[in-house]
Amino acid sequence: MVKVVTLPPNKETLTLLNLKPTVIITTVGKDGSTNAAPYSRFSIVDYNPPQALLSTNMKRDTYRNILETKEFVINYPGTDLLKQIWVTSKHFPYGVGELEKANLTGFPSEKVKPPRIRECKAHIECKVLWTKPIGSSCVVLGDIVSISASTIMEQLETRQKMIRLNPPLYFAFQEDEMTRKWMFAEIGKIHTITEKDEEIQVTSERL
Ligand SMILES: Cc1cc2nc3c(=O)[nH]c(=O)nc-3n(C[C@H](O)[C@H](O)[C@H](O)COP(=O)(O)O)c2cc1C
Repeated sequence: MVKVVTLPPNKETLTLLNLKPTVIITTVGKDGSTNAAPYSRFSIVDYNPPQALLSTNMKRDTYRNILETKEFVINYPGTDLLKQIWVTSKHFPYGVGELEKANLTGFPSEKVKPPRIRECKAHIECKVLWTKPIGSSCVVLGDIVSISASTIMEQLETRQKMIRLNPPLYFAFQEDEMTRKWMFAEIGKIHTITEKDEEIQVTSERL
């Protein structure tokens, strides 16, 4: 018999269970300054209409900019950008451009003011529909107004697209007096469930 234990609903448990790609959110303030910060508490809520949800701490510049200009871009970095992700997570004073600090390149979006990040593999542009504070965070719902990806992505078949995206999957933060650690997983296997004539087959490929 499998034994179960009750876990506390704390940051450690919920981060582990919320295994998600880490994205970099870009926003602009009403003063025109650009902000970039990593986020893992986000999701695509629906395909029709296409909408995305984000949960942001209300002390952050991202939150201030979202309230001021009501737009954001979800940029998808690969695991090759882990150091840059870490730099953008630092608490710089308001108005300091994290993209320059992290050596990342902004380029104009198609439908919104916040820039896309050239080094990222895909981008989702959003216009804010509503915000709802919950505890110290605020949930933000955005209308997806444009999606783009580096041209190489377009030519690949679905599995190859996922391999190329290679998202860093954030699952833990640990710290002691000396060190702070962020831990990420990376996709190493693809499983396909095929249903044909009511027969189901599961195939697994190691990457
Ligand atoms: C991997 C990772 C994921 C994160 N996810 C979130 C998140 O979902 N929501 C949030 O409010 N902060 C999240 N953070 C923390 C913010 O990135 C951090 O507070 C950042 O400094 C905010 O920047 P800003 O003040 O420029 O907006 C995350 C940090 C890391 C490293």
